[in-house]
Amino acid sequence: MELLLVYLFLIFLGVIALIFVVKILWYLYPFLFWGGIDVPTTKEKIEKMVKLLDIKLGQTAVDLGAGEGRLLIALAKAGAKAYGYEINPFLVARAKKNIKEAGLENSAFVYCGNMWKENIKDFDLIVVFPMLHMMNNLEKKFEKELKQGTKVVINYFKLPTWKPNMAEDNVYLYIKK
Ligand SMILES: C[S@@+](CC[C@H](N)C(=O)[O-])C[C@H]1O[C@@H](n2cnc3c(N)ncnc32)[C@H](O)[C@@H]1O
Repeated sequence: MELLLVYLFLIFLGVIALIFVVKILWYLYPFLFWGGIDVPTTKEKIEKMVKLLDIKLGQTAVDLGAGEGRLLIALAKAGAKAYGYEINPFLVARAKKNIKEAGLENSAFVYCGNMWKENIKDFDLIVVFPMLHMMNNLEKKFEKELKQGTKVVINYFKLPTWKPNMAEDNVYLYIKK
């Protein structure tokens, strides 16, 4: 009986350790692709980001690192055709489920992919919730790929040299010159 309890305790510890390792890998995985961790944008920030974009019906938007699809859903509800790239396949599956539950399968789309490898030249609107180490490369990507007039809304971090056209509560709107 005592031996059984010891075994059960060891199994319990093993499961806890496994959950811990999976959690750590979950957070570290995007760094392999020069990305940031999965921190969903809050409801308040999403409202600000959508407001700053001033979306016109049918405009195309892309979320660089779409997570569980929160921003995609908000962009689609505001009238955009919303596309997202997400490196974590589990989050892609979750985002697809959330989009389906929101009934937005015809206006919000998420793909498993590395945002640095995707050309974003055809989009009217860009949203991203990045991390500090990504900002130089993001600015270079925007400089190289975006057409004039494209709106970029970034949550929390500023681009190194572009001047924001508007800023509200650490949400920055840029319009490509
Ligand atoms: C801070 S979360 C933002 C999630 C979502 N956009 C939102 O606002 O709720 C950043 C997301 O980018 C994803 N990511 C990180 N590096 C990426 C890459 N290179 N390509 C695509 N997605 C990436 C992460 O897995 C994570 O889900």
